[in-house]
Amino acid sequence: MNDMTPTREQREAALEGMGCKRKRVEDIRFTQGKGQYVDDLKLPGMVFGDFVRSPYAHAKVTKIDASEALKLPGVIAVLTAEDLKGVNLAWMPTLAGDVQMVLADGKVLYQNQEVAFVVAENRYIADDAIQLVEVEYEELPVLTDPFKSLDEDAPVLRPDLDGKMEGAHGPRKHHNHIFTWEVGDKDETSRAFSEADVTVKEMISYHRTHPSPLETCQCVASMDKVKGELTVWGTFQAPHVIRTVASLLSTIPEHKIHVIAPDIGGGFGNKVGAYPGYICSIVASIVTGVPVKWVEDRMENLSTTSFARDYHMTTEIAAKNDGTVTGLKVHVLADHGGFDACADPSKWPAGFFNIVTGSYDFPTAHLEVDGVYTNKAPGGVAYRCSFRVTEAAYCIERGMDILAQKLGMDPADLRIKNFVKPEQFPYQSALGWEYDSGDYHTAMHKAMDTIGYRELRAEQKAKQEAFNRGETREIMGIGVSFFTEIVGAGPSKNCDILGVAMFDSAEIRVHPTGSVISRMGTKSQGQGHETTWAQIIATEIGIPADDIMVEEGDTDTAPYGLGTYGSRSTPVAGAAIALAARKIRNKAQMIAAHMLEVSEYDLEWDVDGFQVKGNPQARKSMKEIAWAAYHAPPQGIEPGLEAVSYYDPPNMTYPFGAYFCVMDIDVDTGVAKTRRFYALDDCGTRINPMIIEGQVHGGLTEAFAIAMGQEIRYDETGNVMGASFMDFFIPTAVETPHWETDHTVTPSPHHPIGAKGVGESPNVGGVPAFSNAVNDAFQFLGSTHIQMPHDAWRIWQAAKDLGAHG
Ligand code: CDP
Repeated sequence: MNDMTPTREQREAALEGMGCKRKRVEDIRFTQGKGQYVDDLKLPGMVFGDFVRSPYAHAKVTKIDASEALKLPGVIAVLTAEDLKGVNLAWMPTLAGDVQMVLADGKVLYQNQEVAFVVAENRYIADDAIQLVEVEYEELPVLTDPFKSLDEDAPVLRPDLDGKMEGAHGPRKHHNHIFTWEVGDKDETSRAFSEADVTVKEMISYHRTHPSPLETCQCVASMDKVKGELTVWGTFQAPHVIRTVASLLSTIPEHKIHVIAPDIGGGFGNKVGAYPGYICSIVASIVTGVPVKWVEDRMENLSTTSFARDYHMTTEIAAKNDGTVTGLKVHVLADHGGFDACADPSKWPAGFFNIVTGSYDFPTAHLEVDGVYTNKAPGGVAYRCSFRVTEAAYCIERGMDILAQKLGMDPADLRIKNFVKPEQFPYQSALGWEYDSGDYHTAMHKAMDTIGYRELRAEQKAKQEAFNRGETREIMGIGVSFFTEIVGAGPSKNCDILGVAMFDSAEIRVHPTGSVISRMGTKSQGQGHETTWAQIIATEIGIPADDIMVEEGDTDTAPYGLGTYGSRSTPVAGAAIALAARKIRNKAQMIAAHMLEVSEYDLEWDVDGFQVKGNPQARKSMKEIAWAAYHAPPQGIEPGLEAVSYYDPPNMTYPFGAYFCVMDIDVDTGVAKTRRFYALDDCGTRINPMIIEGQVHGGLTEAFAIAMGQEIRYDETGNVMGASFMDFFIPTAVETPHWETDHTVTPSPHHPIGAKGVGESPNVGGVPAFSNAVNDAFQFLGSTHIQMPHDAWRIWQAAKDLGAHG
């Protein structure tokens, strides 16, 4: 060794592996406008498709006349349901086991539903032609209130299901009923309630909102009739699943379909499902023989392609006088709109809502979910959430605050009293999950100490007294939220999408010079996979992250995977990456042994190569080994250095966090100011702390938006309100609070690198923290629960209702 020989620490730092705050490599192109999004695609002869949409929320479609539109120069075709029937595509299956109209087949079920697809030489002509398509509607009674959907005289929304009393998830009890899903022990839970010292009950609504990514849903479909091959570029969070579905629906063999998801400008669950725009573009390309582009505008995005939440959760908790919880009962009325198009794993009609016992040791619980149809857009996607986990977290975190209020206990103390204890992990929840690991007490105490929780409570008390004396018009709320998530769908025994088991995959190829290309079944939409996946590989095989290229989104080249949503990428694909890398390292060990003329058992791994045990000078770096793998492979060992891994996780991962929100509210204007927001996350092993911080900032900003104003609302005639950014709250830097982030590390015991997901945690934990802050502020005025969203108008109204306006 000479002075120039890098130290172990220097070699480690050079890798920029796990734990390093590596700068996002994809940002080089994103920040310079060099990203390649679907709408950047311009193909020779490409034409454009756009929809004629229904102005009515519920109506019969008695006539569609496209003759005037077809006369407009530049219009190529107008597709209706009748045309799609010829190829058996007037309806399509949904991920939830229902069917959905691609184009209106005799009636419409929500405002802006797709009625006809106009194909024209450019978008402007298509738009003009839409105005010329004559559609006759016969209005029907509209149903927008889910609480009235099961009334005896409620209008029949789905005549196609007439007389069908068995749905995809069991019996249907009414013409607008979709399913009842029941989990837990009903009798035992009833007993807990009858024996309880204290019970609370509240109807907690999580309003309808929308993921609203900056880039809307879009695609380009191109059918090559000579080769019989279809290529679809699209904003797909799960490209492989889209290819399989496209093959099943079109009967084009799967190997002749190429699905490519280029750069994606945010997904948040909006880009998981299949939409009429994709089907119509494909059919139009097959009909016309030229590429067809479809790009949603903002209003179409907010009003048609998916929604999130719309859960109405009647929540009851039983407890002892000392605050020990003894039972949980939740009934959910789930508003699914006109079709059940929820993006959940097949067997889970309410996703993983049965994580609703949260971080608390409930001895027994019972959950019942009723899904119903209304005249609203279909969807029910996991908006930065693992399949209804955010609804569950909101439900239990509001519930615990309401219980604390009734008991006269501090809400943080009530939580600590009921936390699952570290020694209880792996923990079996009353509703059927096995939590892998956690240390809730450490996280909560760290969070409380850091924000000075007891001092804040003292300050709040003083402010309340001052308010009561008439000395101030400002009140103060402290929102406590302690969430447990369930991410990483999923073990194939639990989860599938349309029959395809939910695993994920990675392929890694080390080239002779020691540079690497790796491909995964996931698809980043801004989460930074190109940066972090390379970091896992760098640590596992000792090649610098800068020498590793990560590629996702092309079904021709990537191994089959189930895509990116619900923070499943790190728990599932992250594990596949580590295991594929370990296969490479195992082979490299055999090659190194041959090169050093020792037994492979005499070697040990050291940062970026193998060295002989007890003789570190005798070593071969991974780069030298890679060259040998192609240049002089040992006899009996195949040349090359590459591996593929398909990973079926044994369990999901259970990240958790302690969030605190300090809010000051002016009761006279309803304006709420977030003074502090502190978020402590535990996502196990941290791959890239800087990316994690970015994920938390983004998710908290969404949580702030949802809790404090963002909503898709309908009036009683089914007009969708909030379908533009004029009405739908998207916080800018002006409104967004400052975020304080922190962490603890409790690795997942079953994940190869101990990592849990993190992307959605801040959305899941953030919403209850904001809502609890607002509710906490009003408690001393006699309020128990104020529904979200907490915009200034509603807060002002709540203050008025509570007599705070004097
Ligand atoms: O599935 P999705 O990518 O949306 O979520 P995720 O698995 O939580 O990962 C989001 C981003 O955070 C990725 O770039 C991950 O590699 C990174 N991450 C991390 O650095 N450490 C973790 N323990 C979890 C995620």
